[in-house]
Amino acid sequence: MGTRWFLVLFTVFYQCSFVVQGKILVNQPDFVKTCMITKPREEFRNCSTNSVQTLFYEIPKGNEDIGLQVLDPLKVPVVKILQGGGGPVAVNASLTDVTVIGFGNTKIVMNFVDPETYDFYTKLHLPRMRIDGKYELLGRILVIPLRGKGSCWFDAKDLDIHVKSDVQMREQDGFHFFNVTAVHVKFTVGGLKLHMGNLFDGIKALEESTNAYLNANWRPVAESLNPILSKTIEDIMLEILQKVFDNIPADYFLGDIAENDKRKALLKTSQQP
Ligand SMILES: *[C@@H]1O[C@H](CO)[C@@H](O)[C@H](O)[C@H]1NC(C)=O
Ligand SMILES: *[C@@H]1O[C@H](CO)[C@@H](O)[C@H](O)[C@H]1NC(C)=O
Ligand SMILES: *[C@@H]1O[C@H](CO)[C@@H](O)[C@H](O)[C@H]1NC(C)=O
Repeated sequence: MGTRWFLVLFTVFYQCSFVVQGKILVNQPDFVKTCMITKPREEFRNCSTNSVQTLFYEIPKGNEDIGLQVLDPLKVPVVKILQGGGGPVAVNASLTDVTVIGFGNTKIVMNFVDPETYDFYTKLHLPRMRIDGKYELLGRILVIPLRGKGSCWFDAKDLDIHVKSDVQMREQDGFHFFNVTAVHVKFTVGGLKLHMGNLFDGIKALEESTNAYLNANWRPVAESLNPILSKTIEDIMLEILQKVFDNIPADYFLGDIAENDKRKALLKTSQQP
């Protein structure tokens, strides 16, 4: 997005409740479809896209075996945002008792696993995502100084999300596992409605006009919040992906890891001077 950023400090403190310990699935579940990474690129990409879509029909319901909580609705106890600097957004905010609705309708537009690095490249589409919670906010969005504490909601539609997941393949107990070490998210929204209750200690006229202004200017508002939201989505996704891939062997997703590693090793030898 076009906005230039001048961040002095930008941290999201994120604390999630995926505390349940999972366990390694020793049998391949129905919701995991195997693809062959040594197949031609387009064929593998198609297979992989379908496979991840099948996974996404299942995981939002939650899965006790791998210790994954329900993702739709997703409950997040606390999201804290601390941001200083001279960008379009300078806020200290916290969201508590957060409920996120919408992941159950995730459409996987594309998924690809890089055969050299095993990094994932994923494009997702969410028709709608709604966030409800209690907020506490002090700062500025666009040019508006904001102060408030109360309940809020954000309702976004048509989110297109591009995700790159950094992955290291590791081996354990005779299986391969995707060790997801970082997630990089970029996204756009097709529309945003929001409401923050009890802004300015409940001075109603100010609260209503501010909410009306933010909604009328949803596009620059969404753009200015984009880095904060991207970071928040990254933190949430990393937690979910680690939960999924720490417990489901990579061999169920890719049926030819050994063959691919052999191919890579051969290629490396043949490239040596
Ligand atoms: C991949 O999927 C696209 C769109 O569904 C299709 O047009 C194409 O033929 C498929 N390619 C292969 C190699 O299966
Ligand atoms: C946010 O909090 C930090 C550290 O507590 C503080 O230095 C900064 O001035 C605060 N910014 C705003 C906009 O309140
Ligand atoms: C995953 O990779 C990171 C970074 O290399 C490493 O610190 C961590 O120990 C690995 N996790 C496992 C379970 O091997």
